[in-house]
Amino acid sequence: MHFSTISTAIRTLLTFIILPSTVSSTAHPFITTYQFAKGTWVENIAVLSNGSLFVSLLDRPQLQLINPFADPPTTTLIHDFSPYLDLLDIAEISPYIFAVIAGSFSATTFTLRPHSFSVWKIDMRHSTSRASKIADITEALSLNGIARLNLHAVLISGSTAGNVLYLNTETGAYNITIDDATMKVVPSAMLPVDINGMKILDDSLPYTNSLGKTFYR
Ligand SMILES: *[C@@H]1O[C@H](CO)[C@@H](O)[C@H](O)[C@H]1NC(C)=O
Ligand SMILES: *[C@@H]1O[C@H](CO)[C@@H](O)[C@H](O)[C@H]1NC(C)=O
Repeated sequence: MHFSTISTAIRTLLTFIILPSTVSSTAHPFITTYQFAKGTWVENIAVLSNGSLFVSLLDRPQLQLINPFADPPTTTLIHDFSPYLDLLDIAEISPYIFAVIAGSFSATTFTLRPHSFSVWKIDMRHSTSRASKIADITEALSLNGIARLNLHAVLISGSTAGNVLYLNTETGAYNITIDDATMKVVPSAMLPVDINGMKILDDSLPYTNSLGKTFYR
């Protein structure tokens, strides 16, 4: 979740997704890949090896697949994770196998139902994609970002407790692996959101603390 203020955040997110194709810079022209209905909150994107795009939605618990090559581009619902309220980050763990966070943050009331976050596996290797739960992370107040560590593990940002979890995607075992002061909720934060987006880059882990408006590694 990207909060600077809520309205700026929503504008920023919408800009990414529904920027009209008429808005362009000469150096890097933008094109609209897919236009979702107004009110859709696209939380994260992951690219499949064949160029299709997974998008996780925050306003409803849906994982959609965009085919940007179709004319016009199409979207397919891959899985609805109800009764979870939303999806957060998604990462490819091995070709055509993804891990996605399902949670219970309400994008309408901006309230969080803690202890209701899980990580799921989506296997796209077969004609019918299959979703299976990797783990319920019951201690988590909220989960937000996910980054692939290796073929068997991901790191996940605990975006209220302010820590990073290690999750074995085969056994579902997890533990708190990094717990640092820079990852915690700042006093001025209007929502209990701290460490958010995260990527693994060579041997470092760049991450944001969204309401702290800071970027660390
Ligand atoms: C990419 O692969 C997925 C999974 O098999 C498939 O559903 C999708 O249609 C493919 N996209 C393209 C552009 O071929
Ligand atoms: C978490 O589990 C992994 C894999 O078993 C292990 O390598 C790591 O040392 C553990 N971390 C902590 C803080 O226990």
